[in-house]
Amino acid sequence: MEFSQSLVGVIMAAGASSRFKGRVSKVLSELYGKPLISHVIDYLSSGGLKRIVIVTSPSLRALLEKVIPEHGERVELRVAVQERPLGTADAFKVGAMEALKEFGEVKGFIVTNGDVPLVRPSTVKRLIDMGEASDMVITAVELPDPSGYGRVLIEAEGVRIVEEAHLSPEQRAVKLVNAGLYYISSDLLPLLEEIKRSPKGEYYLTDLVEIAVNNLRKVEVMRAEDWREFIGINRRSDLARAFKLASVMKIEELWEGGVTILDPDTTYISLDTVIGEDTVIYPNTYIESSTIGKGSRIGPNVVIISSQVGDNVWVGPFSYIRPGTVIKDNAKVGSFVEVKNSQIGEGSKVPHLSYIGDAIIGRNVNVGAGTITCNYDGYRKHQTVIEDDAFIGSNTSLVAPVTVGARSVTGAGSVVTKDIPPEEVWVGNPARFLKTRGELESKLTSEKILR
Ligand code: UD1
Ligand code: CA
Repeated sequence: MEFSQSLVGVIMAAGASSRFKGRVSKVLSELYGKPLISHVIDYLSSGGLKRIVIVTSPSLRALLEKVIPEHGERVELRVAVQERPLGTADAFKVGAMEALKEFGEVKGFIVTNGDVPLVRPSTVKRLIDMGEASDMVITAVELPDPSGYGRVLIEAEGVRIVEEAHLSPEQRAVKLVNAGLYYISSDLLPLLEEIKRSPKGEYYLTDLVEIAVNNLRKVEVMRAEDWREFIGINRRSDLARAFKLASVMKIEELWEGGVTILDPDTTYISLDTVIGEDTVIYPNTYIESSTIGKGSRIGPNVVIISSQVGDNVWVGPFSYIRPGTVIKDNAKVGSFVEVKNSQIGEGSKVPHLSYIGDAIIGRNVNVGAGTITCNYDGYRKHQTVIEDDAFIGSNTSLVAPVTVGARSVTGAGSVVTKDIPPEEVWVGNPARFLKTRGELESKLTSEKILR
């Protein structure tokens, strides 16, 4: 069995969040549309952990359990309750006991703070690899401003972590901090009992380092290069910093991958977004949890959330692409267009000022300016289907549920309340049959407009 499969991730998320203020717990506050805790679950599972225990407080339990189904089958998640916030050592112990009870044999744990959302999966993988040959591995990183973090002191007697409150003036200058991400072997569990209460009345997991060293266990330090991965969210201002940092990290990665992002200062892209080569992102664009293909052109001033955009797609200024949308290759969504939970087929165009909701649009459809899918009757949502090669005249209202057949045409201002069969031209309010598409085209041919 691979080593990572014998481990369990423990996320410590039962702290009081006193510095964060407000009513919503910090681990449930959102960053790019996902609670902090979900970011942590994602990087642990992408890093190789398939079993994870979240340690929470009694009051948060019910809220956290709601987050679990969103992670599906990729990972087995359990929630353990720490009755009182007695410190990180106690939180880890609660999580480890739950893991042993739920999962049986466990060789060790990857332990992380629930408020550190930007760690890369590759960092977790590296920690697991180091853990295979050690009893404990701590992650250390140099911070430009280390205040508020525990310092990692590497001394002749071995390594230890000293919390901010207990630092001497010289130690305070140390910039190497404890990133809050550990490997701990199951063999070390009995040593947790040796941790003493701090003057603040908490048991610090960080004290386990010195105790393990004194017990001649192998403790190693994994040096991380990029401090941005380890920003901890303690205050609202940290959330704002993490929001910016995540995007900057993502944009650097995308530049490396051949994506053009012209204005990183005003562009925000979530870490879980995927964008293909030669796509160009114009300023003031916000992209969350989406996939965009190659050679597309997005923005300026576009919002895309939980959607899929193909290759060579154009999404023009001031458009809002909402969850569940799929825009196929070579399609165009122009300016001031809102699309929600809809499919726009290959080569189709919605160029101006439209609302497309709960619709399936086929290939090479042209949707005229101002077209609206009336998808909501005040009680329920309904679907609109527009088949291949249809032509929707400007300012058409499509009163769903409704279908416009292949190669059919609606006249400007039509209100479509009934299904239109293929090959027909309908006009008016309510729209009615006028002629066939064949008749329309023979007229256009005789006028030498079509040939
Ligand atoms: C902790 C580390 C510090 C490190 C920093 C990195 C300790 C004692 N200190 O400090 O060395 O530099 O993280 O971000 O571990 N929690 C519980 N139960 C508790 C207490 C805390 O579940 O009883 C959880 C919190 O919800 C939080 C995490 O543990 O997610 C860390 O606690 P926090 O109080 O934020 O510790 P820091 O002061 O940030
Ligand atoms: Ca913290």
